[in-house]
Amino acid sequence: MNRTHHNGTLRMENINEEVTLVGWVAKRRNFGSINFIDLRDRSGIVQLVVNHDEYPIVEELKNEYVIQVTGLVRERQDKNPNLATGDIEIDLSDVKIINKAKQTPMIIADKTDALEDTRLKYRYLDLRRPVMQNRLMTRAKIVTEMRNTLDNLGFIDVETPMLTKSTPEGAREYLVPSRVHPGEFYALAQSPQIFKQMLMIGGMERYYQIARCFRDEDLRADRQLDFTQVDIEASFLSEHSFMEIIEEVVGNVMENVLGEKRPVVDYVTFYDALNIYGSDKPDRRFEMLLNDVNPIFSETQFKVFENVLKNNGHLKAIVLKDNAETVTRKVSDKYTDLVKKYGLGGLVVLKYVDGEITGSAAKFLEEKEILDLVETLGLENNDALFIGSGEWEQTCTAMGALRLQLAKDYELIDQEKFDYLWLVDFPMFELGDNDELVARHHPFTAPKEEDVELLDTKPLEVLAQAYDLVLNGYEIAGGSMRIYDQELQRKMFSLIGFSDEQIQKRFGFFVDAFQYGTPPHGGIAFGLDRFAMALTHSETIRDVIAFPKNASARCPLTNAPSPAVDSQLEDLHLKINK
Ligand code: AMO
Repeated sequence: MNRTHHNGTLRMENINEEVTLVGWVAKRRNFGSINFIDLRDRSGIVQLVVNHDEYPIVEELKNEYVIQVTGLVRERQDKNPNLATGDIEIDLSDVKIINKAKQTPMIIADKTDALEDTRLKYRYLDLRRPVMQNRLMTRAKIVTEMRNTLDNLGFIDVETPMLTKSTPEGAREYLVPSRVHPGEFYALAQSPQIFKQMLMIGGMERYYQIARCFRDEDLRADRQLDFTQVDIEASFLSEHSFMEIIEEVVGNVMENVLGEKRPVVDYVTFYDALNIYGSDKPDRRFEMLLNDVNPIFSETQFKVFENVLKNNGHLKAIVLKDNAETVTRKVSDKYTDLVKKYGLGGLVVLKYVDGEITGSAAKFLEEKEILDLVETLGLENNDALFIGSGEWEQTCTAMGALRLQLAKDYELIDQEKFDYLWLVDFPMFELGDNDELVARHHPFTAPKEEDVELLDTKPLEVLAQAYDLVLNGYEIAGGSMRIYDQELQRKMFSLIGFSDEQIQKRFGFFVDAFQYGTPPHGGIAFGLDRFAMALTHSETIRDVIAFPKNASARCPLTNAPSPAVDSQLEDLHLKINK
């Protein structure tokens, strides 16, 4: 091919140049014998003009035919300001068909009404849509920028195994049966965590890797079974210096990939995040904070609130400004159902209109309580008010979910904003289903030094040297300073319920390694897919992954997973129990 230019790059300065272009026919229309063809390649679309009396072959051209054309760039008479190449067009002197195309099962354009499963089944066509190409190109630039920054800061790229051993990081793992060792299994790495710590013990000092990770999780809009981390670890750095390095990585991506300002990343504690935003990954692109209204109801006669306060519970209120009239019975039922899903008994919905508070619970409120509410929350005419109540973390989380839903429904989110924050001061542990201690981050995370002595007595009060990086309400990275003392590491494993024997059997190799001079170290992993999703304002993580699984964990293109044939099962010493 003698391609001279990429279609989307042609401009006024190319006028009178003869160009040879290749690409896909995006559209052909004719006015009499004049044909206008939109020719698409990865760089964009350009308009071709050709007379079919002179070049009858153009009559054959259909959408998605692959063609090569030659022609002269000329100024367009009616310019199209919506197209980067809209000032010019190509007056053709040659057209060749390189390949024909069947009619496609979906329209190839940014706007599509195709169902997601159709898009995934014909992903190679979906990927031709400019919006998808741009997302993948941005993703590639993000990776390059992160790589360059880390390379420049002395981090080295080391690969670690994907076929490995189970690690206690919390996610369910994929097991891979060994053919050579009947009845034994590898685990697919859910992250390179253990290996990157070994690399620090191995003296590598600064490591990174673009690592594929595998987790058998229920899928959500921001989760995949196989996803990619930009995984990082460093030795001999304080928590603060390490976080500054990560800010440098993020700053370079914002500036050099998106042309945005370098963000100022401030710190929010876990407690404040939950208490004020109702989430450990707060979206601060809009206000609507959770207000503590316990003091207003300290002497309430309203049974629901009275009971909650008696049990040391919390009352959390959020205000929806100037929209009381839209909160119909149906709307309040919808929001009540939402908070019930998060475990609350119900939701008190009130409206403040013409100086009066109305709503089904209004009759239980005293005049003074109403005045206090109006004053404390700064209520104005036509505001709606939602109060949820119960145990602190549960109430915060439920009201946080309501806050997000209201922001979506009432379009309160500033979509142009990039809001970054460090979430810090995480508790080390939370309680599992049977009230057992579970590591909130993972069991390699170091406790805050001043809290180590509480490990035996009040483990739930111990805070971790852990940090999450949050962007626009997504946890885009998470990490911590690590334990580097063998005894403390053993203690952590035992606190989360491993016996000495289990520790030795499962992690013996790991705790043993700590005996030979382990440097202080810490790290982080970016969820690259999630980071790219947030930066491209995509609605799901699937939009920044070329070949993702759908919400029911299938790949509609290849139809994986699929049954294994008997001989494969035999090789692997497996029997399917139907
Ligand atoms: P964590 O489990 O928090 O930490 O993962 C790090 C980041 O990876 C992303 N992520 C996911 N993205 C898509 N699909 C998933 N199923 C998925 N799970 C996680 C998130 C998350 O912030 N080894 C530690 C890191 C460390 O301590 O250095 C780890 O894996 O953006």
